[in-house]
Amino acid sequence: MKIIGDYRLFKPNEFLSEYYAFLGEENKALLRFHHEFYSHIPQQKSMLEIGGGPCIYQLISVSRKVGSIVFSDLLKVNRDEIEKWVNGAAGAYNWDQYFKYVLKLEGQMLTAKNLQSIKKRVQKKIQTIIACDIRRNFPLGINHKQTFDIVSSSFCLNEISDKEQDFLKYLERAISLIRSEGYLVLVLVKNATYTKNGDQYFVNFPVNETYMGKTLVRMGLKEISIKSIPNEFNQGYEGIIFITARSKDYNTPEVLMNPDYQPNNSLRCCDPYAMEK
Ligand SMILES: C[S@@+](CC[C@H](N)C(=O)[O-])C[C@H]1O[C@@H](n2cnc3c(N)ncnc32)[C@H](O)[C@@H]1O
Repeated sequence: MKIIGDYRLFKPNEFLSEYYAFLGEENKALLRFHHEFYSHIPQQKSMLEIGGGPCIYQLISVSRKVGSIVFSDLLKVNRDEIEKWVNGAAGAYNWDQYFKYVLKLEGQMLTAKNLQSIKKRVQKKIQTIIACDIRRNFPLGINHKQTFDIVSSSFCLNEISDKEQDFLKYLERAISLIRSEGYLVLVLVKNATYTKNGDQYFVNFPVNETYMGKTLVRMGLKEISIKSIPNEFNQGYEGIIFITARSKDYNTPEVLMNPDYQPNNSLRCCDPYAMEK
């Protein structure tokens, strides 16, 4: 088995069939995680999705809580998939089973009209599709210094390199794109040294709940929530970790003026295998 780190070899169609063709327990848990979290936050203006791949499932629930979504990914093939889907073009991936599941979570009737309108809701909110390389100091490009109310990333930040210092850099960069007191929404595979995509295997830096909790506290995040579920299939990881947190208040004088400032963080939940149904 050859493990690679070169995403230029990534095949969106193989990836979609390997991970998203079947709406099993893992994928339902992903949708519930997003639904639960976004149901409980106030209305926001902007969201950045980092390394979104050829996927939009992670944007369904947030689309009713945010004014606009900037979708980003390293690869043009993935960005093209999203553009196709947003434009309703022929050959776009069919996410209907995901939309139907979220309609149920939102307590809406499963009618053709509701299905159409929830899809439109997501299409309307994805207003920008841009290139992103989290390995660079300015992941969205040197001229793009905007911060966002929500920064979200799924199955990306620890699936690019097997080195801890790389992962920490990518995580810090993602966090630096959140506005003061904004939200981080992160989904990671647990304890993986590789993840499988068809006949390809991509390198991972293995993380678990405890490591992520300590790391996010050290990086100054607050209101950290960490949950996880065990894996459903054997694709290289032990489970999935679901994280939400808030960035610090950059306007607080202690943060700005005192280099030894220790944020008063609490780890609200570090509860493996306790993802609610
Ligand atoms: C395993 S896929 C995850 C896709 C999607 N987020 C999901 O939930 O399934 C990893 C994604 O990270 C993207 N990626 C890889 N290296 C990246 C980088 N340096 N900067 C930004 N995105 C990257 C890949 O193009 C791919 O779409």
